[in-house]
Amino acid sequence: MNKYVHGYSQREAIRLNDQADSLASLIHFDSIWEEGSLILEAGCGIGAQTKTVAVQNPNCKFISIDISKKSIIEAKDLIDSKGIKNVEFQLANIFDLPFHDEYFDHIFICFVLEHLPNPDKALEVLKSKLKTNGTITLIEGDHGSTYFHPDSEYAKRAIQCQIELQQRNGGDANIGRKLFPILENAGFQEILVSPRQIYVDDSNPLWVKGFTRNTFTSMIEGIKEDAIKNELIDRKSMERGIKDLYRTAEGGGTFCYTFFKGKGIKS
Ligand SMILES: C[S@@+](CC[C@H](N)C(=O)[O-])C[C@H]1O[C@@H](n2cnc3c(N)ncnc32)[C@H](O)[C@@H]1O
Repeated sequence: MNKYVHGYSQREAIRLNDQADSLASLIHFDSIWEEGSLILEAGCGIGAQTKTVAVQNPNCKFISIDISKKSIIEAKDLIDSKGIKNVEFQLANIFDLPFHDEYFDHIFICFVLEHLPNPDKALEVLKSKLKTNGTITLIEGDHGSTYFHPDSEYAKRAIQCQIELQQRNGGDANIGRKLFPILENAGFQEILVSPRQIYVDDSNPLWVKGFTRNTFTSMIEGIKEDAIKNELIDRKSMERGIKDLYRTAEGGGTFCYTFFKGKGIKS
């Protein structure tokens, strides 16, 4: 991986947990595998998704891997603190996995492909580790799907900075819309992609705080200095963009974003 756009700070760890908690019902209500399955979670980070999928599938065993040692340690602490027993963590690289071919019943990968310069290669490697008839589940966002009220050109420019920085690092912040072709190119069958739109207004204070404020706007705020340093935007405009994004989480504001969840079978 090139430079990871979000970094591994404590603030980012809190953001990943807020993201996972506010989204759990939307993206994980159907993250269910048959009992007894051995599942690879590729790029588990600090375990923000692990803590949901492992509890939802108590009779499956998860091997959750990440390339960051710091994240693996945090993930293990989090899962241990919750008394979850069906997860084993390993430090490993998706492109050099320490498992023999056809090792896993299923694979789960969330918010990782968007950071990789070669998602097609990642799927090729992951597919080789899947048993025949095993499934892969991908979840990704798509920053191009963002719209909100009150509308703001400054906020849109701030979001565009994130998209450009991620692109410069070899990633793709608009990858959600591409999950079907990515799965198809990798040779998966029976592909099903479903958009999961998060729509936030004042009637859902949990999502106003957990998603609009602490996940999305916090993510844009997190790249503020990088965006200015890279001369993608001037400081005043960036600060106005962030302020306008926070405004969408105040009285009368609304916020929309679409995640994509894709599944395919190795036949
Ligand atoms: C945005 S985080 C998502 C973490 C977690 N899946 C979640 O949804 O909270 C992306 C994670 O992918 C990991 N990652 C990136 N490239 C990787 C690779 N080649 N092998 C394993 N992990 C990788 C990063 O270290 C980071 O923890």
